[in-house]
Amino acid sequence: MTTGSFGSFPVVRPRRLRGTPAMRRLVAQTRLDPAQLVLPLFVRDDIVEPQPLQSMPGVVQHTFDSVKAAVTEAAELGLGGVMLFGVPADSAKDGFGTAATDPDGVLNAATRVVAAEVGDALVVQTDLCLDEFTDHGHCGVLAADGSVDNDATLERYRDMALEQARAGSQLLGLSGMMDGQVAAVRAALDSDGFDDVAVLAYSAKYASAFYGPFREAVGSTLRGDRKTYQLDPANRREGLREAVLDVEEGADIVMVKPALSYLDLVADVAATVPVPVWAYQVSGEYAMIEAAAAHGWIDRERAILESITSIRRAGADAVLTYWAVEVARGLKGAA
Ligand code: PBG
Repeated sequence: MTTGSFGSFPVVRPRRLRGTPAMRRLVAQTRLDPAQLVLPLFVRDDIVEPQPLQSMPGVVQHTFDSVKAAVTEAAELGLGGVMLFGVPADSAKDGFGTAATDPDGVLNAATRVVAAEVGDALVVQTDLCLDEFTDHGHCGVLAADGSVDNDATLERYRDMALEQARAGSQLLGLSGMMDGQVAAVRAALDSDGFDDVAVLAYSAKYASAFYGPFREAVGSTLRGDRKTYQLDPANRREGLREAVLDVEEGADIVMVKPALSYLDLVADVAATVPVPVWAYQVSGEYAMIEAAAAHGWIDRERAILESITSIRRAGADAVLTYWAVEVARGLKGAA
């Protein structure tokens, strides 16, 4: 008689391992640890009070003072790191993203402040991309015909990398999706004595609708779309190709982004590359859960923990999430 067949009693009973909280805790295959969470932070230099973001309830644009408090708390909670995004004033934006390579530009200045505040207590990371700094909102500089010029952009990324390293960033988050960006940045860093600064490649970064609220967070109004450089959501193999290429070019860590809609990529990349794999639970993923919870349509805390656990289960070693502090607090309370 086959196990579990109709009219018989099952011999194999998987429910035994689900019977009590203690048993479930013992057999849980995936756990969350604050050290594997990275908190993205937005910083401005033209405000005196933190500014709440309408499309991301609970997330703010920080002042230099409030970001100091935020990173101190993040370090106390044992987070793995913070990822800094600069939000320049509109008047500081131009076609080349000049403020990105100004040592006193908002991101570089904020990085200095944060690095001085937390030292080695967590890993200080910076977004290396031009979209926050350009008036057209693209991740690179434009050619005469209006297209994003890959190789001219690499020159800008090299200079950005050096300024971010000088400011004290320990891990550069290359999120621009230009071909050859990892090799270009690695070479620039090494030739300037920054061989200890690591590169996080946003390898499989898709042209996603889930970045919507981020535009408000960084005050960016994009002209057109990013489909000529970010990946088509239809493509799985291409995401893996990008990750493999980035590892060949010297990436220390590779990332898949967004997270929840791309768990197949997280699993593919984790099974293939010999470096850590991270995933970014992006602004739209945050906003969806917050909005549904605000309506009482979903259990907020369970949905947050389930989503992050799923990302880890798929193979992500660490997760960038706007809920990092809240989750870490919860884990600390539970321990
Ligand atoms: C590029 C960048 C973006 C995000 C992180 N880095 C925007 C984009 O590529 O369109 C999105 C993050 C989020 O939505 O939470 N600088």
